[in-house]
Amino acid sequence: MGKYKGEGSLAVRPKTTEEVSRILKHCNERNLAVVPQGGNTGLVGGSVPVFDEIIVSMARLNEVKSIDPLSGVLVCQAGCILQHLDDRVAKEGLMMPLDLGAKGSCHIGGNISTNAGGIRYLRYGSLHGSVLGLEVVLANGEVLDVLQSLRKDTTGYDLKQLFIGAEGTLGLVTAAAIHCPPRPKAKNATFLACATFSKVLETFRKAKADLGEILSAFEFLDKESLDLAVGTYEDVKSPLPGSPERFYVLLETSGSNEDHDNEKLHAFLEAALESGAISDGAVAQDGTQLKAFWRIREGVPEALNTHKAMYKYDLSIPQSTMYGLVEDMRARVGDRAYTVGYGHLGDGNLHLNVVADAYSEELTSLIEPFVYERTAELGGSVSAEHGLGQMKADCIGYTKGDSAVSLMRLVKKTLDPKGILNPYKVLPLPGEVTPPQDS
Ligand code: MLT
Ligand code: ZN
Repeated sequence: MGKYKGEGSLAVRPKTTEEVSRILKHCNERNLAVVPQGGNTGLVGGSVPVFDEIIVSMARLNEVKSIDPLSGVLVCQAGCILQHLDDRVAKEGLMMPLDLGAKGSCHIGGNISTNAGGIRYLRYGSLHGSVLGLEVVLANGEVLDVLQSLRKDTTGYDLKQLFIGAEGTLGLVTAAAIHCPPRPKAKNATFLACATFSKVLETFRKAKADLGEILSAFEFLDKESLDLAVGTYEDVKSPLPGSPERFYVLLETSGSNEDHDNEKLHAFLEAALESGAISDGAVAQDGTQLKAFWRIREGVPEALNTHKAMYKYDLSIPQSTMYGLVEDMRARVGDRAYTVGYGHLGDGNLHLNVVADAYSEELTSLIEPFVYERTAELGGSVSAEHGLGQMKADCIGYTKGDSAVSLMRLVKKTLDPKGILNPYKVLPLPGEVTPPQDS
């Protein structure tokens, strides 16, 4: 986004876990702070140095160690690019359990460290479930080896979970064992129009009930998002041109039998049209059209990024009240900015973005802290899948209570007593007041 600019004067590019270990041992002894950096595609400034931290680039740790086609377990180093891994496991009939717009450059280590979500979450769940083992270099250089490939293991504390979503503040992930599901043999996508947000919710409920195990993505975008993507890029075209509706859904199914999936999907579409949940729809006729549907969805954040000022929020909010926040925000900012709502509706993950020609104090104060306060009131989380990074390190208190934040500080102090690992990220600086937790 060009929003975070670092000042680091030194970057190191280790090739092995041993080298990472020696780097951290040296930095810890000399009180030198480090910032781990993967594909640098994060949206909250987590991989950008704040002052003069040493950048530890993970790019050369890019080896695939093994793939077991029977168990579906991939073992690889942290610097492997997500798209490369997906291509590699495809040869064994498998796929990565996560997929996101940045797949061509993001690293699996960064995905794990931010607990990235993306578009396959609805079907394959969180990395807290898919990651079976990790190798992590701790602040003092010690290598924590919990790189197991077991689906089940109840021996003691599940230490790897601490590092999933820790954004490199507790240790540097150097390798991972990941469970990869079978690659679907049949894929289908439909682009649907709904008159109201409650119709979107009705469609989601129906999709879960009627499509069951083949439902693999349920993404929504409002008309403002669709118009922006279509208006910005020539190759983004709405499959429902001229549709007057306010909301659109990209629904994907993945399964093992094309005829069976088609039958289910068409029965669902007929019933949804008949009940009035959807008012129109288009089904992708082939792989090219399926890609074109996804291009619309991926075009939204890209088109937002062409604006000079971008206020970007990634929120978890109960689905029933999710869109109210977009409407409230639109009313607050008025014609000072353009407000859009889209996201992974199936996972309760709203992407609320406000874009304008320039940043201004007036606009900022209309947006924040309102967006965080309202999210907290609705029982949501201020970060669903992008992490806290430096953007939201002082916002954790909107979602987590004092006892949780205190325990996090204790964990941080125990694992990184000198505070050399990715400082100023995730947790507010000690002594800094976090927003109050009323409820
Ligand atoms: C997305 O779902 O498109 C991503 O999380 C990125 C974004 O909102 O910009
Ligand atoms: Zn997202």
